[in-house]
Amino acid sequence: MKFFVDTAEIDAIAELNDLGMVDGVTTNPSLIKKSGRDIIEVTKEICDLVDGPVSAEVTATDADTMIAEGRKLVEIAENIAVKVPLTWDGLKACKTLSDDGHMVNVTLCFSANQALLAAKAGATFISPFIGRLDDINLDGMELIADIRTIYDNYGFDTEILAASIRSVNHVLDSARLGADVMTAPPGVIKAMVNHPLTDKGLATFLADIAAADIKIL
Ligand code: E4P
Repeated sequence: MKFFVDTAEIDAIAELNDLGMVDGVTTNPSLIKKSGRDIIEVTKEICDLVDGPVSAEVTATDADTMIAEGRKLVEIAENIAVKVPLTWDGLKACKTLSDDGHMVNVTLCFSANQALLAAKAGATFISPFIGRLDDINLDGMELIADIRTIYDNYGFDTEILAASIRSVNHVLDSARLGADVMTAPPGVIKAMVNHPLTDKGLATFLADIAAADIKIL
């Protein structure tokens, strides 16, 4: 499973990237707003740091302007994936930009039929939003499973990018279901290391190290 980090915070991306945990980055207008940075500047900085795909989202809602924005975004760096919303105009922009040879991430996906349309329009990534479905008492994981089945049934090579990940269990369940990629905030990725038995075991070892005065260096 590829790990994308869902943030526009450079320091957080750099920390995870140094550990080999970052296969790509996703941003969206809310994350750009949170960073307080100019979208072009911060996206360029992220692209300089990370080798994998960096999703940058268009701001327009009509296809022609989305395409124009996408063409500007891909000038930032070779690893830009243009992020477009799952609307009819977004699908038109997806088709044009992917026909031009650019990576496209179709975002705000909440149904398997939407994901089917995105694959047919040439999406590189489809982003089903798990957490936002869970927020309204629907099952985000059922959506991941449905998309996996449909894409496998017909051999679509669009990658399933599990998005709106809010917990370590979302990561685990997405991996079990065969999502190709997950994107999560840095805090969720870092929380994956935690286990109470690791803490307990380490405390015992440290006590024994002290008691027996075990030294290596
Ligand atoms: C993904 O591309 C989105 O940026 C993100 O995962 C949305 O997450 P949220 O629903 O927690 O805002």
